[in-house]
Amino acid sequence: MRTKQNFIRVALSDFNVGALAESSQYIIREALRSQEGKPLKKIIEYGPGNGVMTKVLLQRLPADGQLIAIESNRDFVELLREIGDPRLRIICGTIQDIIPTLQKEGLQGIDLIVSSIPFSWLSQEARKEVISNSSEFLAKDGSLIFFHQYIPIAALSLREFFKKVSISFVLRNMFPCFVIVAHKSNAKRTNPNI
Ligand SMILES: C[S@@+](CC[C@H](N)C(=O)[O-])C[C@H]1O[C@@H](n2cnc3c(N)ncnc32)[C@H](O)[C@@H]1O
Repeated sequence: MRTKQNFIRVALSDFNVGALAESSQYIIREALRSQEGKPLKKIIEYGPGNGVMTKVLLQRLPADGQLIAIESNRDFVELLREIGDPRLRIICGTIQDIIPTLQKEGLQGIDLIVSSIPFSWLSQEARKEVISNSSEFLAKDGSLIFFHQYIPIAALSLREFFKKVSISFVLRNMFPCFVIVAHKSNAKRTNPNI
């Protein structure tokens, strides 16, 4: 309850949060449906907010797993730090600024990337760059999942990089929204120019 109240307070003070409430359990379930039974050892989360998805992902991770969470809002970062799980690496900043740092670190072999950032607010160029770089991070059977999306614009950018992109719509959330899923095994051989 406390984290729900915190979410609204932070959301009202930061336009970039892009939602008034945290994701419902229905969205979380739908977002992770394609990952049922799949071993997940390395995960990245873009825009964890108050950690509603983060906590579910940590339950899926083995003891030697790692979850990198990139969050731009400092209040949310403080809340995330309260989770206090050694497998969770929290980075404060925008994904546009942090992804190049992760590239320099040579990050690869990621099983799953989940993103709930308001993707439609990025420029078309930034959207392509995020998807292209995320695809490079993924292991060959890894997945890239956008959830809590009010406009399915991520699907358009994803289709430039992946042959097959699935979209579903979840009614039970404040507000109803889209979940968009792409798997690396469906990546196109050549990346379009970005
Ligand atoms: C719609 S909220 C979703 C929060 C949470 N993941 C959930 O499902 O309830 C989007 C989150 O992304 C963060 N965010 C927005 N733009 C971002 C960016 N460019 N880089 C990193 N985080 C961003 C916001 O601060 C917010 O926490």
